[in-house]
Amino acid sequence: MAHLKPDPQILAAPHWGTPLTPVAKRVMLLGSGELGKEVVIALQRLGVEVVAVDRYPNAPAHQVAHHAEVVDMTDREALAAVIDRYQPHVIVPEIEAIATDLLVEIEGRLQNGKALQVVPTARAAQLTMNREGIRELAAQTLGLPTSPYRFADNLTQLTEAAQAVGFPCVIKPIMSSSGKGQSVVRGAGDLAAAWDLAMTAGRVEGVRVIVEGWVTFDYEITLLTVRARGLDGSVETHFCPPIGHLQVNGDYVESWQPQAMPPDTLVRACEMAQAVTEALGGLGLFGVELFVKGEQVWFSEVSPRPHDTGLVTLVTQTQSEFELHARALLGLPVSVSLRSPGASRVIYGGVDAQAVMFEGLANALAVPGTDLRLFGKPESFVKRRLGVGLAAADTVDVARERARAVAAAVTVTSAN
Ligand SMILES: Nc1ncnc2c1ncn2[C@@H]1O[C@H](COP(=O)(O)OP(=O)(O)OP(=O)(O)O)[C@@H](O)[C@H]1O
Ligand SMILES: [Mg+2]
Repeated sequence: MAHLKPDPQILAAPHWGTPLTPVAKRVMLLGSGELGKEVVIALQRLGVEVVAVDRYPNAPAHQVAHHAEVVDMTDREALAAVIDRYQPHVIVPEIEAIATDLLVEIEGRLQNGKALQVVPTARAAQLTMNREGIRELAAQTLGLPTSPYRFADNLTQLTEAAQAVGFPCVIKPIMSSSGKGQSVVRGAGDLAAAWDLAMTAGRVEGVRVIVEGWVTFDYEITLLTVRARGLDGSVETHFCPPIGHLQVNGDYVESWQPQAMPPDTLVRACEMAQAVTEALGGLGLFGVELFVKGEQVWFSEVSPRPHDTGLVTLVTQTQSEFELHARALLGLPVSVSLRSPGASRVIYGGVDAQAVMFEGLANALAVPGTDLRLFGKPESFVKRRLGVGLAAADTVDVARERARAVAAAVTVTSAN
């Protein structure tokens, strides 16, 4: 078999030594949530040394990394200091709220004799942390279809912007995620309340908002797109089967894979994902969010990293989105093949408390084909995602029922 013969290209491919020794390959994760936790596990399995950074102690990825650091990553000086201390070969942003201008400055600088890699690129992290940057790239530079949109810096501009895009419209702080500060506005009378909500919930005070016209889609998908090196060293783009999902108040509650789509529409979606990810560049996995109605596809936004709706790939793909990200960023080959249809269902805290207790786990996992992730977050909030129910089945419909049953069987109680 030809592929068993050592190929000179493969021999020249990336190599690394042992964690916690001077020859280790060191990766620093900026953000240590539940998605980062799975990325750390994937990297650990490949013998990589991992430093996990977050703004609070005992974050999910802290608990599985070699080193855990608590740093305010929006503080340039503090971020620079932790990077200097560990001298990582690779920096992997896991959240959006980071001093990305520092990453732009230091990307490519020589560290341990190697160019510092930011995943996928520092520019991608910078453009996507701000809805304005990525929207202008997609709509203006690449000419992709998006919802109609305007930006506003105050209530007067917001009123003009809403009139221009029409009602209903969605108002979102340009620096926010997981639906925070977002509202759907049906008429001019709701604009003042939407403005106030955006100002209190945005990540940075006094930020702008984007006003987007409402898209009445049939369904929305996340198209996980991987930029990875082929054996000849060139970067190839791979598309995972589309993930369908359900959002409530801008936050994901359920996802499934594959989402059935007409073949031509899927091709169009892949072309759009290819254009956006190529423009952002680098190596790694991206979550391209698209709205679909009939054969029409709109670009919504993109994460230059694993996507929350992609938690389902832990049970559906031979390589989960986390393994794909780890492999791609290390310059290793990837496979996006589907193992089984499946679904995920979010488990919320439901209470504001520390050190919560989980009950019903045996019942949850007695459902056939199921699995569970409890993220280990030290504090629960009513709407904080603490875990996810997962299920594989012969059909997406059965998988969705099973995943819902898993999530419903788990109860979260306050210990005190
Ligand atoms: N213009 C729109 N028309 C219709 N629905 C929309 C529109 N914008 C957002 N939504 C709905 O709200 C959800 C969240 O929006 P968006 O992805 O922009 O917010 P987010 O805060 O970045 O969320 P996340 O970080 O969880 O991806 C979308 O997945 C979609 O269901
Ligand atoms: Mg989104």
